[in-house]
Amino acid sequence: MKISLQSFLLAISVSALISCAQKNLSTEKDIIPSPVEIIKSDGLFTFKSGMSLYINDKNLAPAHTLLQNSLEIDLVESHEELSASIVLRMIEGMKEGGYHLSVNNDRLLLEASDYSGIVAGISTIRQLLPIEAESGLSIPNVEITDYPHYQWRGMHLDVSRHFYSKKEVMKLLDLMSLYKFNKFHWHLTDDQGWRIEIKKYPLLTEKGAWRKYNDQDRTCMQLEKSMHNPDYAIPTDKTSVIEGDTIYGGFYTQDEIKEVVNYAAERGIDVIPEIDMPGHFLAAIQQYPDIACDGLIGWGQVFSSPICVGKDSTLEFCKNIWREVFQMFPYEYVHLGGDEVDKTNWNKCKDCQKRMKSEGLATPEALQAWFVREMEAFFLQNGKRLVGWDEVVEDGLSDKSVISWWRSWCTDAVHKATAAGMKTIICPNSHLYFDYEQKSDFLKKIYDMDVVPSGLSDTQKSLVWGVQCNVWTEWIPTMERMEYMVFPRMMAVSEIAWCEKSRLNDYKTFEQRVMNQLKRLDKLSVNYRIPDLTGFYDRNVFVDKGEFKVDCIMPQVEIRYTMDGTDPSSESALYTTPVTVTKDTEFKFRAFRPDGTFDKLYTASFVKEAVRPALKVTENLKPGLNVALYDFSGNKCADIASSKLIKTYVSERIAYPEGKTGNLAMVYNGYLEVPSDGVYTFSLLSDDGSILKLDDQVLIENDGLHSPAERSAQVALAAGKHKLELSYFDYFGGVLTLYLINEEGEKTECPSEWLKHE
Ligand code: ACM
Ligand code: ZN
Repeated sequence: MKISLQSFLLAISVSALISCAQKNLSTEKDIIPSPVEIIKSDGLFTFKSGMSLYINDKNLAPAHTLLQNSLEIDLVESHEELSASIVLRMIEGMKEGGYHLSVNNDRLLLEASDYSGIVAGISTIRQLLPIEAESGLSIPNVEITDYPHYQWRGMHLDVSRHFYSKKEVMKLLDLMSLYKFNKFHWHLTDDQGWRIEIKKYPLLTEKGAWRKYNDQDRTCMQLEKSMHNPDYAIPTDKTSVIEGDTIYGGFYTQDEIKEVVNYAAERGIDVIPEIDMPGHFLAAIQQYPDIACDGLIGWGQVFSSPICVGKDSTLEFCKNIWREVFQMFPYEYVHLGGDEVDKTNWNKCKDCQKRMKSEGLATPEALQAWFVREMEAFFLQNGKRLVGWDEVVEDGLSDKSVISWWRSWCTDAVHKATAAGMKTIICPNSHLYFDYEQKSDFLKKIYDMDVVPSGLSDTQKSLVWGVQCNVWTEWIPTMERMEYMVFPRMMAVSEIAWCEKSRLNDYKTFEQRVMNQLKRLDKLSVNYRIPDLTGFYDRNVFVDKGEFKVDCIMPQVEIRYTMDGTDPSSESALYTTPVTVTKDTEFKFRAFRPDGTFDKLYTASFVKEAVRPALKVTENLKPGLNVALYDFSGNKCADIASSKLIKTYVSERIAYPEGKTGNLAMVYNGYLEVPSDGVYTFSLLSDDGSILKLDDQVLIENDGLHSPAERSAQVALAAGKHKLELSYFDYFGGVLTLYLINEEGEKTECPSEWLKHE
């Protein structure tokens, strides 16, 4: 066969285009959550504007809109199923929330037995589309059969501590739907702000939605400065100046609430409003003080004072609020809160005491239970069912109510609730509180977690309704910060909620899929957390020359650095290969997303250091270190000096003392005896503060009140003994470990045989 040069070149460029497009299209393996069964075949289906779409049920009209909006093209409704290119069909007999997607060159068929199954199929289509816009709107030919393991795949958002606009909430709902979440738990009221319009009580939002800056706001402002992070800035579009005072906040009108509820419904998401009571109610109490116990308003030891459940008028106030709330939220379940109630006022209040007498209630706990049961009965009369935080498990509710299990230290609550026939939503703070710092191990921690606590019978297990992540926003003032705290770890929640545990056995592949999903989030302008940069320590030591080296498991990130003490910007040097240094240098660097936004600031100092000589200690040293244990109050290691010594003893390990739960400090003293000359790497993990000194010089500074945080440092040591002093304090049940890190980066506890004292 003879072929012209032009057609030869054309053939090459077409085949290059096809292979490039197919490379971009090989997204079916990256879908999160992973489908139950997926069979790919050759060929593509290409969406085009004006394509015909058939639905066999008018309730699928919002799904038509959803698909068309996701594709950003028009799809024309057809009344002819056989000739339509796209068919969305409601059929009988499929699993709840599941779908079947069948795609060939000419036709796309999506079937389900409920609307949420159709939406789940659309989310799969969205993830099958190529990430690169220029690759068009083609998806591979596939047969997918898919259904969720858990029926409750939830996300909670606290809009009281900081307010999120309707648009911001809608963006979150859109992302939830992309990852097949189907329940939005909207924490609408709390001590710090009331966010939902209640027409009968206008002051709730006229005044209760606004505040002067509080301590949490001030902490955010400080973090903005100290962390060099604009995501902590209080949003100025949510502030106004009234009579010279800046006030901050916002609320949703009832129409806006309904808009959000409809928007969520189109995306297969039920919205569960939470009006937290009888505690966490200060924003309302400040506007309507009669609902509190007389003269007893404000903060107790730990929590704000609750409403007065002794007064009938307070109960009527609550019920009136719920009557309006029921009109805005069609879903059967609503959330009463019921957590963290400071009951001390009820003991002092004549109305509460009277109620206890008339109802035969012996304790304030029984009074809370009475209130919660009253509300449950009221909800049921109104066709609604109660969800409460797990504290309400003590309140003698019926099996129609549900608990959100958040107190990870109290698994008993799950046992009790499920034994009483109550459905349970799993959201323990240990794994699923997304206000807690998102550490590098968090994805794996969630992926590996057992959703079902141990020791439940099969009937109890069947009452575990699903999984939810909770976003409390005390220190999350902006949408950017919220996205940062939520992504990518919500993908792990999506995976454990959708997939049966037996399918979760390949974390490394999951992690890779997450990295690919982050490219999709780039296109959606999501401010996700970039995986940790690795390969360096906070303090790096060299004898002749050192090498600044940085890795990231996400290859597409840009790392930019400076060596002159300034913060790196998008103009700073781009890291491509290791940088050699021959003198003391401090590197500042951060990772940038493709849209130019950046993640946290890292610093790594490189220090030229001669090997530190060993001490000439002649005495026969004994194993272990001297420890002085103190009764502590303060917020930094220097406060140990003024603390009361409890006892001294010798310990062979550096570790949190057994049987203690906080308000303590320890100072370890003695020697570290290393076996040979060399550069040693240590890391110090502590909650709260700690400082490690070697040879009277600070090596690791990890001071201050904080959750578990690890700092690392290198030091060049001659073989032999070096003076060691380690100070540590803890406010509430902490963590302390000194690690040794080998050249491969593997960590082990500092060998106890290296620890000596006189
Ligand atoms: C909660 O974290 N107080 C439910
Ligand atoms: Zn009272």
